[in-house]
Amino acid sequence: MNVIEQIHKHRSIRKYKSEPIPEDLLEEILEAGIRTSSSGNMQTYSIIVTRDPDLREQLMEPHLQQTMVVDAPVLLTFCADFHRMRRWLALSSAPDNFDNYFSFMVAAVDAILVSQTIALAAESKGLGICFLGSTLANADQIGEILDLPKNVVPVAGFSLGYPAENPELRDRLPASGLIHKEKYQSISDEEILNIYKEREEKGWQRYMQSKWLKESSQKSGVENLAQLYTTVKYTKPSHQEYSSKLLDYLSQQDFMNNTL
Ligand SMILES: Cc1cc2nc3c(=O)[nH]c(=O)nc-3n(C[C@H](O)[C@H](O)[C@H](O)COP(=O)(O)O)c2cc1C
Repeated sequence: MNVIEQIHKHRSIRKYKSEPIPEDLLEEILEAGIRTSSSGNMQTYSIIVTRDPDLREQLMEPHLQQTMVVDAPVLLTFCADFHRMRRWLALSSAPDNFDNYFSFMVAAVDAILVSQTIALAAESKGLGICFLGSTLANADQIGEILDLPKNVVPVAGFSLGYPAENPELRDRLPASGLIHKEKYQSISDEEILNIYKEREEKGWQRYMQSKWLKESSQKSGVENLAQLYTTVKYTKPSHQEYSSKLLDYLSQQDFMNNTL
């Protein structure tokens, strides 16, 4: 299969066989990931490969009890990492300019790019993945369980294993709503509603299949998908709490010395 055909077949996999991933296959996939471009070729990321079932059991709570964490044989956690680079700078008597928010973002971009390359490499070998947003939401707890030193912050993660399900392809917003030619083009209200038209139908149907989302939506008087997103799924208190927790953790991990 060529790369583009494979990309078009992507679906997140949430049910896995217990079959382990052979070490040499995992190594091949990770090595492919390391070919990803990185800022200044500094490779300011680390990939944590967690196979140990006890550790993955401990990670269930910060991952909000998402069963993929324990059901898949491997959990990958991608971290923004300036620890290694800063240690090397110190050992080389070089100035260290990487204890600030900009450096966190540089490292986070590196880590996230590598994660997607590894996802595609894994899928090309018949494995399935499901990204876990809980990695960033609870980066502080995950960092503690994984013994992360200062200047290392988890930013993305996914479960990895052989699929035990064959889900349908999920819809995407139309490319015309996502791509702007030359400059950002202004969009009318009507066009905005059109961009989300199919999503409103398919997303609503999908979420109403979840008992929890259906009941919570009914209780909160939610009438459409947009309301479901921000009244039930991604609430202001949850997002404010995750924001403030993340900023505190960035400070703790020595990424927030931003004053001149
Ligand atoms: C950064 C990120 C975080 C995600 N977090 C979760 C998650 O915590 N749980 C989950 O079941 N799926 C998660 N997903 C998967 C998305 O729900 C999924 O990609 C999206 O619904 C589209 O479906 P598809 O990947 O099957 O095409 C995440 C995806 C991304 C990119």
